[in-house]
Amino acid sequence: MAGTKRLICDAEALIEGGSGVRFMLERAGETVPAFVVRFDGIVRGYINRCAHVPVELDWLEGQFFDSSGLYLICSTHGATYHPETGQCGVWPCSGLS
Ligand code: FES
Repeated sequence: MAGTKRLICDAEALIEGGSGVRFMLERAGETVPAFVVRFDGIVRGYINRCAHVPVELDWLEGQFFDSSGLYLICSTHGATYHPETGQCGVWPCSGLS
C-alpha cells in the first residue's frame, strides 16, 4: 500500500558492506523478495532478483556483496551490481542469448 511505512530492521543491524536483510514487498500486485544493505553510509534497498535470469541474488541468505564488499553479486553467474544504483556493472551471465 502506497505511503505505508514499516520497520524492516534496526538501521544499526546493517553494517557497511556487510550482510543484508531480506524482506518481502508488494509491487504491482505481486509479493516479491527484496533486501536492504548499507553502502557508503546509506541504507539501500533493491528487489532481490537478477536482471539476467529471475533468480535471487544472495549466495547465502542475506549475503549480497562480493568478497571486496564493493559490489553486489549474483550468486548464479556472478554478474555484479553497483550498490549505489543497483545498475549492473559486469555482466558475465552465460544464461543470456
Ligand atoms: S542469473 Fe544472475 S548473472 Fe546469470
